Amino acid sequence: MGSEASARSAFVIRVFAGAEDALQVAAILRESTGAATWSEEALRETVKLPGVTAYVSERKGAISGVVVGRQVLDEAEVLNLAVTQGTRRQGEGRALVGHILNRFVQHQVSRVFLEVRESNAGAIAFYRGLGFEAIATRRDYYQDPKESATVMELWLQKSTV
Ligand SMILES: CC(C)(COP(=O)(O)OP(=O)(O)OC[C@H]1O[C@@H](n2cnc3c(N)ncnc32)[C@H](O)[C@@H]1OP(=O)(O)O)[C@@H](O)C(=O)NCCC(=O)NCCS
Repeated sequence: MGSEASARSAFVIRVFAGAEDALQVAAILRESTGAATWSEEALRETVKLPGVTAYVSERKGAISGVVVGRQVLDEAEVLNLAVTQGTRRQGEGRALVGHILNRFVQHQVSRVFLEVRESNAGAIAFYRGLGFEAIATRRDYYQDPKESATVMELWLQKSTV
C-alpha cells in the first residue's frame, strides 16, 4: 500500500479487491484504447488464477487505474494496465507499475515482460521510462484490429524500482 501526497497526484494504490472493484475496472479498461478490454467476469476469474496480482489506484473513493500481473517462477508478465483518461500524466501509471514491480522483487522475480501494440507509442514511451526495453516483435499478435506486438522486458536486478 502506498499513497502519493501532493495535491497534483492525490491518489492511493491498493490491492484489487475482487468482485467489488470489477465493475469500475472493467469500465476503465473499455475506455482505455491500448488496454485489454476484459469484462467484469473475466477480471474476477483472472485475478483468481495462480500467481496473478492486481492493484488499483483510487481518488476520493473512485477507482482511476489498474495494473494486473502474473508471476510464473522467476519470471513475470504485466497483463494489463490502464489509467482513466482524465487522470493521465500525473504519475499514477508509474505508481501502479512500481507497486507490482516491488511485489515481483519481493517474490524473487528476475525478469518482467509485456506485450504492447506496436502503434501504442504512448505506452511504449511510458514503459521505456521505467527501464523496459523492446526485445522482439510478435507478428499479428492482436486482433480487432489485427496488429503486431512489441515485446518489452525489464531485468529487475539491474533496475531500481
Ligand atoms: C500507459 C498509461 C497507463 C500511462 O499512465 P499515466 O498515469 O498517464 O502515466 P504516468 O503519468 O505515470 O507517466 C509517467 C511517464 O511516462 C511517460 N509517458 C506516459 N504517457 C505517455 C505518453 N502518452 N506519451 C509519451 N510519454 C508518456 C512520461 O515520461 C511520463 O512522465 P511525465 O508525465 O512527467 O512526462 C496510460 O497512458 C493509459 O492508460 N493508456 C491507455 C491504456 C494502455 O495503453 N495501456 C498499456 C497496455 S500495454
